[in-house]
Amino acid sequence: MKGLILSGGKGTRLYPLTYTSAKQLIPVANKPVLFRVIESIRDAGISDIGIVVGDTANEVREAVGRGDRWDVNVSYIEQNEPLGLAHAVKISEDFLGDDRFVMFLGDNVIEGGISQLIAEFAHSDWNSQIVLTRVDCPERYGVAELNDKGRIERLVEKPKNPTSDLALVGIYMFDNSVMEAVNTISPSWRGELEITDAIQWLVDSGKAVHPYLHRGWWIDTGEPGQMLEANDLVLEEIDYKIEGYVDRDSQVGRRVTVEKGAEIINSVIRGPAIIGQDSRIVNSYVGPFTSIYHHVVVEDSEIEHSVVLEYSRLTRISGRIQDSLIGRYVTIERSPIKPKSHKMTIGDHSQVGIL
Ligand code: TTP
Repeated sequence: MKGLILSGGKGTRLYPLTYTSAKQLIPVANKPVLFRVIESIRDAGISDIGIVVGDTANEVREAVGRGDRWDVNVSYIEQNEPLGLAHAVKISEDFLGDDRFVMFLGDNVIEGGISQLIAEFAHSDWNSQIVLTRVDCPERYGVAELNDKGRIERLVEKPKNPTSDLALVGIYMFDNSVMEAVNTISPSWRGELEITDAIQWLVDSGKAVHPYLHRGWWIDTGEPGQMLEANDLVLEEIDYKIEGYVDRDSQVGRRVTVEKGAEIINSVIRGPAIIGQDSRIVNSYVGPFTSIYHHVVVEDSEIEHSVVLEYSRLTRISGRIQDSLIGRYVTIERSPIKPKSHKMTIGDHSQVGIL
């Protein structure tokens, strides 16, 4: 089997972070979501992986390379415009050949890996397997309606009046019959070739599409709130280790990772939390469910339930930062310049909550 990871798209819901960088490279518990996806596919025994890339192709190539770090072979497939998930399959025809494959959205995180799923599909004669999970708001997802025998009857993209709460998780398995489907369907009202239409085409053509019910958690990290939620869930799962320096005046909880070169000085860190390589936490409080990426400085400040990306500085902030997603090279500090006021230089589409 082969792996196909979708890492193009625009990521508009994560602006401004994704104006300048790929959303799939935003870290969850200090590891880019895309790296977690590659690891799940590798752990399922697949070593040929194609990555569909768009505007952020260079950044993705630079971060992933040829896959040596994971002991896999990575090929890149350029998608000039994000014309839909089924379009991404269509342009990958040369890479996929006649092989069965798993397609994984590069911004999705799933509990427990996909080895079992892949094993079931690899040894079956199904033409496709889709992964479903129960959700509270089906109107926000692509959903599957099953008949009383548990077979797929219909797939509906973001239904206004949902009759099923089974959402499609961003992991799909196909054999090469999907090529005929993606070459036959037409673009939807939003101008995209929808993967739900391709799967519906398979169902209508009498192909065997098997629904797999996933019972653990699954997060599509497309929005800031979902990014924080994925960070919460993954922080609870990782192994904790202290590789950096913690001085005697600091208190560091049991479920805390301090990466190499990081320094914790006169501070309190409550887990689950992770402090990245070469970051410094000085006279500060870092509360539960916080990921501080590498080369960050937090000084005389308090932060919890947040993600801070590389090279940012938070200094002398009064009040606690919470529920926040802070980008790269951001500076937040108490300003000594009069008048006493909030002074900001903020990019387009930023969101700031003030006391
Ligand atoms: P989406 O989250 O549906 O789309 P998007 O990334 O453009 O985000 P937004 O809606 O915020 O603008 O995409 C799911 C995944 O599939 C994501 O990793 C991007 C990828 N993708 C492609 O590679 N090609 C495409 O044509 C599309 C639509 C998405």
